[in-house]
Parts: sequence; C-alpha cells; structure tokens
Amino acid sequence: MSISQLARCICESPTLKLNETAALLREKGEPVIHLGGGEPKSKAPLDAIVNCSSMLSSGEVRYAPPDGIPALKKAIIRYTEEHYNRLVTPENVIVSNGAKQAIMVLLYAILDPHEEVIFPAPYWVSYPEMVKLAGGAPVVVTPKDGSFHPTVEEVADAVGPYTKAILINSPNNPSGVVYSAAFIAEIVQFCEKKGLYLIMDDTYNRLVFDGQAPINCYDFANDHTETSNLVVVNCVSKMYAMTGFRIGWAVGSRDVIKAMTNIQSQPTSGPSVPAQWAAVGALNGVQSSIESLRVTLENNRNVMVARFKAFNGVSVTKPGGTFYCFPDFSAYMRDSQKLARLLLDKVRVVTVPGREFGMEGHLRISFCGSTKEIVEGVERIKWALDPNAPNELYLGNRKLVRDWL
Ligand SMILES: Cc1ncc(COP(=O)(O)O)c(C=O)c1O
Repeated sequence: MSISQLARCICESPTLKLNETAALLREKGEPVIHLGGGEPKSKAPLDAIVNCSSMLSSGEVRYAPPDGIPALKKAIIRYTEEHYNRLVTPENVIVSNGAKQAIMVLLYAILDPHEEVIFPAPYWVSYPEMVKLAGGAPVVVTPKDGSFHPTVEEVADAVGPYTKAILINSPNNPSGVVYSAAFIAEIVQFCEKKGLYLIMDDTYNRLVFDGQAPINCYDFANDHTETSNLVVVNCVSKMYAMTGFRIGWAVGSRDVIKAMTNIQSQPTSGPSVPAQWAAVGALNGVQSSIESLRVTLENNRNVMVARFKAFNGVSVTKPGGTFYCFPDFSAYMRDSQKLARLLLDKVRVVTVPGREFGMEGHLRISFCGSTKEIVEGVERIKWALDPNAPNELYLGNRKLVRDWL
C-alpha cells in the first residue's frame, strides 16, 4: 500500500518531535533543559477549570454546533469588542481546535489549487505545510536587510497573478519581533486595495513588552463591512496557558466563516465541548493571569537577552513580545539542524533549528520556562560553543569533557 503524494510532501512538526525527544530523554533520567517549547508553564485560569469541570460533572456532553457553542461565541464577540473595538455577530465567528485548525480550515476555504499565500520569514513552522495541505503554494518573503521585519515593498513585490492571501504573524514566532503599526496599517490597506485576503495570526497579540500596547489591525481598515477580506485568528492557548485545551477562533466575513464551518463540520464536527466551556471561563473570568504571565515573560526575556548579549559571536534581536528569541549562531555553525543536534547530544539543551522557520544560522530559544532553566540553558550552550570556556562541565554528578570543538 502506498501513501498519497500529498502526505509525502508534508513534513512532521519539528517542535512536536522535539517535545517527544526531550520527554524520552527525561524519562531516562537525563538532565534535559527544554528551551524549545512553545507553551507557558503557568496553570490554566481557575475560571476555566471550574467551568470545564462543572460541564463535565453534568454528565451530558453532546454534539454541539460545528462553529462553536453559543456561549463561547458570545465570549469571543465580547473579547473582540473589548480588545479590537470591533462589533461582530455570531455569524462572523468560528471556534476551532486551536488557532492551528482555524488557519487550516481558513486556507481550505479560500484557496483554489496552486493559489499562493505570502508570508514573511522567519515564519511559524506550520505555515508552509498548511498551505500545501490546502493545495496552495507558500511564498516566503525574506527581509533583505537581514532583520526580522519585512517592508511592505518586499511583500508587494512577491504578489503575482496567483496570490490569494497574505499571512501575517505579529508578535512573531520565532523572532519575537513586533511588526510596526505603520507596517500593519500599510498591509491592511494594500490588501484592501488589491482584493487579497489578509490573515492576521494574533496568537501572541497580548504578550508584548516594554509598555507597548497590542496592535489592532482593524484600526487601519477602511472596509468594515461584509466585503472585508480581513480574517483575525486568536486562541486561548498562549495568553491563558491553555495549549492542551485546543481552542482557537477566527473572526471574518460571514461568507468566509460559513465556508469554514462547512469544511470544519465534516472532519471534526467542531471542537470538544468541555474545552469550549473552559475557554468561556477563561474569556469571561478574572483576567489577571494574562498580565502576570506577560510580566514573567518580560522578565525572562530580559534575563535571556542579557546573557546572549554577553555571548561573543552570537547576535540577538531583543524580542518585543511572545516567548521566543531567535539568536544568530552562524559565527559558530551555520547548519542550524546540526547545531541543535549538537546541543541536545552534548549538553542536553533542546532548541529548535532556524531552518524550520525559514532562516539558517539561527536557533529558536524559548524563554517560557523558569529563569533558572534559562540561565543554565544558555550557560550550557556557551560552554558547548565557546572555545575559551573551561574544558570540563558538570551536569549534576556527570562530568562532561569537550571533545567536539
Ligand atoms: C504563530 C502561531 N500561530 C498559531 C499557533 C497554534 O496555536 P494553537 O495551539 O492554538 O493551535 C501557534 C502555536 O505555536 C503559533 O505560534
């Protein structure tokens, strides 16, 4: 039996694979430091747990509308009004299994075969595979100035007769860079003028630092009607530390949301109902956990960036949001997969190769763990790479001798 051509051209999710590898090593008692992860360590908000548990204890967990339970749609409408100053109706909202499925279903709904979706590098690992799964072609725009911030001209230059959508993720995974309000404003207006879909992946919208306010793309839109091609994707995964609940959503025009609903209803019948009730609890409950997570992450960011700035040969761009940093290690090793492997094999630090995000020479390093892990993780990386470091290192009672430089 052979597998399909489509399946053969889709890569395994490298971040999920790394989680598996780290878990296996930990099970064997290895002193692994996981700086590759994409989830906060804090607990889900109490209101989410209470809502979910009381729903479960009713014992009546049934099929629900494929685009989400009314109570969650209501909470999302309120969230959209509060944080985006935008009034939408239930027909403008679909709830999915995480932001991931919202984006996937959206791509199925808008792409005809071979139509192109443009996104800047570095990009979130799943975008190219998702576009391919939906039958489209990914088009990557790499900033020419070596930064992580594209210009509107660079994006516009990539537009051709097959372009269907532009996909923007800011704050950005993996660089942590927050695209400027001027850039977002121009992209919104460019897409309106050209009749292109603009997908705003706002997964990290609220996790911004240095006193910045989250950027609201609707502020720059001229079209606030049902002809708008702007679709905004969000989720409870990161801001409420609820990755495992798998709840995300999209807000867009009725036609697009209807098409997405039809598609979603066939393979899944919509997201799990107890998880949706948990999201209702998170969105309607006490909101302080977001600010405390944000403050913790900002502190962690400072700790990590200070250490990389003191690391000879590594150049680092200070993340303005998210919980990722994307330092350039090419002075030590350009092949990011080899480098990540070396760090895992030799000093048991998990990182994600920049190649997965469309940029060689970099590693994505998360600062969502504890400051202790960050400090020790960066120390181990430094020891592994810096030729001037002492020749021996102790991991617990295990002595390591550097034999790979
Ligand atoms: C940029 C971006 N978009 C979407 C997602 C997916 O979020 P979810 O876990 O809600 O599917 C992630 C998760 O890492 C992400 O980083």
